[in-house]
Amino acid sequence: MSTATAQAFSNIAFIKYWGNRDPELRIPANGSISMNLDGLYTRTQVSFDPALASDQIVINDRPATGAAQQRVGSLLDRVRGMSGRQEFARVISQNNFPTGAGIASSASAFAALSLAATAAVGLDLSQADLSRLARTGSGSACRSVPGGFVEWRAGDDDETSYAYSIAPPEYWGLMDCVAIVSLAHKPIGSTEGHALASSSPLQAARVNDAPRRLDLCRRAIRDRDFEAFAEVVELDSNLMHAVMMTSNPPLLYWEPATLAIIHAVQAWRSSGIPVCYTIDAGPNVHVLCPSEMAPQVAARLDQIPGIDKVLSAPPGPPARLIKSNG
Ligand code: DP6
Repeated sequence: MSTATAQAFSNIAFIKYWGNRDPELRIPANGSISMNLDGLYTRTQVSFDPALASDQIVINDRPATGAAQQRVGSLLDRVRGMSGRQEFARVISQNNFPTGAGIASSASAFAALSLAATAAVGLDLSQADLSRLARTGSGSACRSVPGGFVEWRAGDDDETSYAYSIAPPEYWGLMDCVAIVSLAHKPIGSTEGHALASSSPLQAARVNDAPRRLDLCRRAIRDRDFEAFAEVVELDSNLMHAVMMTSNPPLLYWEPATLAIIHAVQAWRSSGIPVCYTIDAGPNVHVLCPSEMAPQVAARLDQIPGIDKVLSAPPGPPARLIKSNG
């Protein structure tokens, strides 16, 4: 039996991935930029075992079924294909952040799975190849393979679409204060959402303008220019939500508390506090600020009704192998 365990961190996109040019391979409509989130991670153990008659997948102490089981199974099939191995695998995956808190786990999960599965079969992939593999499981997972601040170059095929680090975690002391908003209903998952993106008349404009926003964001990170960063991050999030709200059927992820946080963050920034927001496919708001402002920002967020809790995460490291005998 050959076993490996890997750890990968969640990430928050500053320039968003929304819509695929090739949904099978997850070749995105546009490039994206993100930051890994230290302290919010998935740990995954993969054991290829000749005694197994099928893949056995346990996620957060529960056997995976349906779509989740299939998605993990297809990634394992890819790894079997790459290595020439036939055995089925036992996968045990655990997130350290609370389940149901509304924090996306597919990014950290598929990054950890890709690293653990390839190490277990004895494959030592380059970071780019590992990122490409993780991308096929979940697009945003390709950005959880490298560390710190990361860009996913959209590319135009499997070979050219992968993520790489544009700055190490210690380059800029940002903090993501994640305001967890109580969930009234289960939102539509990102995979279904990506498929609806092109039904919005606004998606083409969002995608056409993406190179300009990527450039602005890359420069703001390079220059550690929070004002420029805040402007492009909020614009990009608003553009994605405008596409979501104008898809057919429309997707509206915001709850009343989400909007309350948007208004509060805008008011705080007008009063001189360096802070901005970005929102993924759910009601939670990621409130970004320089780390020295984080205690004050978290305390202010705690005063807003409808927020369950605030989790704070600085820039995180790349995916890493914890144990391997593959
Ligand atoms: C709104 O990577 O979760 O968080 O490829 O179907 O797994 P799949 O989608 P996923 O989409 C992430 C969408 C987003 C924006 C982003 O992270 O860039």
